[in-house]
Amino acid sequence: MKTPLIAASAIAKTYQKEHVTIPVLQGIDLHLSEGEFLGVMGASGSGKSTLLNIIGCLDRPTSGSYQLNGMNVLHSSDDELSGLRSLYLGFVFQTFNLIPTLTVAENVELPFLYRSIDPDTVSEKVHTAISQVGLSGRINHRPAELSGGEMQRVAIARALAIGPKLILADEPTGNLDSQSSVEIMQLFKRLHNQGSTIILVTHDPQVASYADSIITINDGRIIRESL
Ligand SMILES: Nc1ncnc2c1ncn2[C@@H]1O[C@H](COP(=O)(O)OP(=O)(O)O)[C@@H](O)[C@H]1O
Ligand SMILES: [Mg+2]
Repeated sequence: MKTPLIAASAIAKTYQKEHVTIPVLQGIDLHLSEGEFLGVMGASGSGKSTLLNIIGCLDRPTSGSYQLNGMNVLHSSDDELSGLRSLYLGFVFQTFNLIPTLTVAENVELPFLYRSIDPDTVSEKVHTAISQVGLSGRINHRPAELSGGEMQRVAIARALAIGPKLILADEPTGNLDSQSSVEIMQLFKRLHNQGSTIILVTHDPQVASYADSIITINDGRIIRESL
């Protein structure tokens, strides 16, 4: 049987604030295979980003078990987790997180900075990723010269460039107008059709409708799975 890309069971996360324990996630089970496009919905504050950060090894659960690509990552060191992230995961955030002083090509090149790959190969991967998001004509532009939708496409190219096993997107349309949102979701859909595995967090049902399956988080639990 094929190993699931993500096997998370009974994931719980609590925050401690001045002797008060705030339960955010209270027993999340999540399995994901390669090639899936999963939407994660829920109201603001329901724990969507917390869950995505745990899946993305940016944060650790308080309890539960989590295997990423067959590896038990809960006992990995911070260095091991950052190695896993740079090999397997591509992140896309609401605020794009581009470096304003760098060009489009230089921003997309960033994930290769600490990897020993020869420059020609890096350049080829960077150009391929930029072409996949339709920005080949803009490689020498800086973020300030781009629209919000274009900036998010650069961020998606940066996430794609390493050839990640999984793309994690947290409210990727949250800062975009409705037309740009549609374009970004069509891009995610196209990438999915070309084989990318995607988990996309949104509070917007219309955005979530581009995913193949949707889970909804409420009070720290998954309350609905529509498949
Ligand atoms: N570092 C933190 N310390 C304390 N509470 C936090 C922290 N991060 C998130 N929370 C709380 O956890 C809950 C879920 O947050 P979050 O995962 O960001 O929700 P969502 O992404 O669904 O809006 C919120 O009540 C938030 O205030
Ligand atoms: Mg959030």
